[in-house]
Amino acid sequence: MAEHGSPPPSPRPEGGGDHGSLRSQAETVQSRGGPSTELILDANGLHSFYGVSHILHGVDFSVRKGETIGLMGRNGMGKTTLIKSMLGLVRPRQGSVRVRGVDMTHAATHAIARKGIAYVPEGRGIFPNLSVRENLIMAARPGIDGRREWDYERVLHTFPRLGERINNGGAQLSGGEQQMLTIGRALMTNPDLLILDEATEGLAPLIAKEIWSIIKTIRASGIATVIVDKNYAAVMALANRSVVLVKGRVVFAGESSELSGNQELMHRFLGV
Ligand SMILES: Nc1ncnc2c1ncn2[C@@H]1O[C@H](COP(=O)(O)OP(=O)(O)O)[C@@H](O)[C@H]1O
Ligand SMILES: [Mg+2]
Repeated sequence: MAEHGSPPPSPRPEGGGDHGSLRSQAETVQSRGGPSTELILDANGLHSFYGVSHILHGVDFSVRKGETIGLMGRNGMGKTTLIKSMLGLVRPRQGSVRVRGVDMTHAATHAIARKGIAYVPEGRGIFPNLSVRENLIMAARPGIDGRREWDYERVLHTFPRLGERINNGGAQLSGGEQQMLTIGRALMTNPDLLILDEATEGLAPLIAKEIWSIIKTIRASGIATVIVDKNYAAVMALANRSVVLVKGRVVFAGESSELSGNQELMHRFLGV
């Protein structure tokens, strides 16, 4: 309908102060002083495959600044695949991934990480031949806005156990210590968002408890977190919102209390 003389307002590159593009800027408000509704990560309509196996069927997933999201679902429902699809480790065949409003659907993983997203993968990813100190120092870098809140000293303060093992090689650490080192390394990058995939898997209860308390500390420091863990009660106690996957589809997305207070849903979606 629009005549040639009145083109629709087109989104302007950075800094266009005109009111015409307010709508497109609403989701890309700059971090400094921006409202807490700012989206760090925003995935829409993701379809991912392994060969011919269709795993994700149009998944939407978003994380706002400072928010904690519980990503839940039984084994094999697609949680890890969703995370990998948002980080460039699995290429979605359809759908989009935006980081701070910028399309990163086809971006390399390291480019996405440079935008302030840290990932603690299932099964740990430390350098076994490097010492604890070397593992941490190698990861150090300022955050996206130059923040250096998390440094070597603060990580050691948060994980006193790592301090005791500072010259040990990664391979000499216990499972719990390796997990702490993986999280410590992620924090050294000063992320805005930390994604934890089964961080307490296979750990003794006491060590798992320590990891949970560390996750609380991280969350309280303002870092947004996505938590995947089989301890649903612990996840929902921390998460502002919960998302549940069943066979690669989102079957619940909302307030964690809505889910935890509904036994029928908990049973149907999570089998508990
Ligand atoms: N590398 C892979 N190649 C083929 N199939 C895979 C691969 N990784 C996972 N799958 C399959 O994809 C589905 C989702 O797996 P995954 O995302 O790991 O689930 P979750 O993290 O929820 O346990 C499962 O059926 C799993 O067997
Ligand atoms: Mg998984």
